[in-house]
Amino acid sequence: MIEVVGFRYARLGTADLEETVKFATDMIGLEVVGRENGLVYTRGDDRDHNICYFEGDPTDHTLGLELADFDALDAAESSLSAAGLEIHRGTDEEAAARRCMGYINFKDPSGNSIDLTVRPFAAGRRYFPGRDAGIDEFSHIGLAVTNPREAEKFWSEMFNFRTSDWIGWSALMTFDAVHHRFALFPSNKPGIQHINFQVRETDDVMCSNYFLRDHQVRIQAGPGRHSLSGARFLYFYGPDNMIYEYSCGVRMVDDSWRARQFPVNDASFCAWGSKPDLSVLEAGDAAE
Ligand SMILES: [Fe+2]
Repeated sequence: MIEVVGFRYARLGTADLEETVKFATDMIGLEVVGRENGLVYTRGDDRDHNICYFEGDPTDHTLGLELADFDALDAAESSLSAAGLEIHRGTDEEAAARRCMGYINFKDPSGNSIDLTVRPFAAGRRYFPGRDAGIDEFSHIGLAVTNPREAEKFWSEMFNFRTSDWIGWSALMTFDAVHHRFALFPSNKPGIQHINFQVRETDDVMCSNYFLRDHQVRIQAGPGRHSLSGARFLYFYGPDNMIYEYSCGVRMVDDSWRARQFPVNDASFCAWGSKPDLSVLEAGDAAE
């Protein structure tokens, strides 16, 4: 069992780096913390960085997770290799670009690129927002998977992820107390489907709702309240059609939590009655 201890970063290719970085700071409210070798590091909390953008293929996404130490990294490399996956051990230079002391990369069964890092950098300075969106934390992602049931099995058997709830065949999974760190979305291709930042309170969600609409940012869903996690949410599109989410008040779960099954309908997605685009939960579903 590979034990993930931290949720660290996303690395995203983008067709227009400057436009994307401008959106990240001026619209999302992220801070640029570094620019090196064509990489732009941004964040919405006090860690070194949360999203690293680079000019390149907009479907080139990597998620960075954290393991406890180098022994755990070696053990992860062995167990993923034994499961038949190809592992790339990062060089020192590659680790430096990920701002950690060491890592391996592999592709999950859907083809999602995952970095398992050791000792990712902390930051000496606190987060200074690009705009006052009330962001607290880089908190979870929607992960596109080609077969939700197989993906859930992979992440719960190879890793310490457990399912908090299901909507249709999609599992919302976590490795810690936060209701979900992954929301699995059925798709015919891998990738990060959305990126979530927690904000402090419902007022922040609503202020951003009006701010983003005023700036002609396309809203994808919300404002609403997730029936599964209880979080108040707003989803919107950034460059390259990447979906970003603000939410607050996500449910915490412990070992006594028992996963619930929700059907795919509007009320499962939003307790307030907003009309979500449920096709994201149905498209490419490989489940019979
Ligand atoms: Fe989300």
